Amino acid sequence: MSLLKAEGLFKSFGKTHALDGADISIRAGEVVAVMGPSGSGKSTLLHCIAGILPPDKGTVHYSGQDLTAMNDSKRSELRRTEFGFVFQFGQLVPELTCLENVALPLRLSGMKRKDAERASRDWLARLEVDGVADQRPGETSGGQGQRVAVARALVTRPKVIFADEPTGALDSLNGERVMHLLTTAARETGAAVVLVTHEPRVAAYSDREVVVRDGRSRDVEFAR
Ligand SMILES: Nc1ncnc2c1ncn2[C@@H]1O[C@H](COP(=O)(O)OP(=O)(O)O)[C@@H](O)[C@H]1O
Ligand SMILES: [Mg+2]
Repeated sequence: MSLLKAEGLFKSFGKTHALDGADISIRAGEVVAVMGPSGSGKSTLLHCIAGILPPDKGTVHYSGQDLTAMNDSKRSELRRTEFGFVFQFGQLVPELTCLENVALPLRLSGMKRKDAERASRDWLARLEVDGVADQRPGETSGGQGQRVAVARALVTRPKVIFADEPTGALDSLNGERVMHLLTTAARETGAAVVLVTHEPRVAAYSDREVVVRDGRSRDVEFAR
């Protein structure tokens, strides 16, 4: 049974066919690496299945609901409550402390400041960055910033984490640390992870691989 299923996705930007009939299916709790060369359509695929970008053609079903048929406010509500996002960099609000950044999605969903900050401190500790709670993102290292971003993605206990090259700006040691902490925390909470990467070392943290080439995807026929 898949939690998230996309079929026959097409997406063009002018003359560029970024997606040319891509399919992907994600089961609850699994970690799937989306691999492929630069420009092959990985980010476009991720944005379409996460309800950020509407495909030109094709369907995306999440938990029985058709994302492509939803209106914008329903879709952003779904993103806010069910999904978490980690990008390469630049996703934290620079004016807020790391603690306030992690607490932000909880505050936006109406949680009291004290409760939101307590939950956020726990998540910073799980990601081993409680030491930077009161610093602003610009005052942390790249690896610390990404761990804060992972804490923020997980604090709402989403069902799916979408991560687009989350270690792309880190050295390999920090990248491995972020991947280890991200996949461990996701497995503990039962969140599925859709991980876009072109680094085989990062993909090694996944249960399964999907390869994208020229806007088409295919499952790699092996399980770890
Ligand atoms: N917003 C956009 N405007 C124009 N072209 C885009 C846009 N986003 C992606 N593309 C093009 O679509 C193709 C696939 O891009 P992308 O999905 O970002 O690939 P990947 O993430 O695998 O590097 C590329 O040729 C890229 O230049
Ligand atoms: Mg990309």
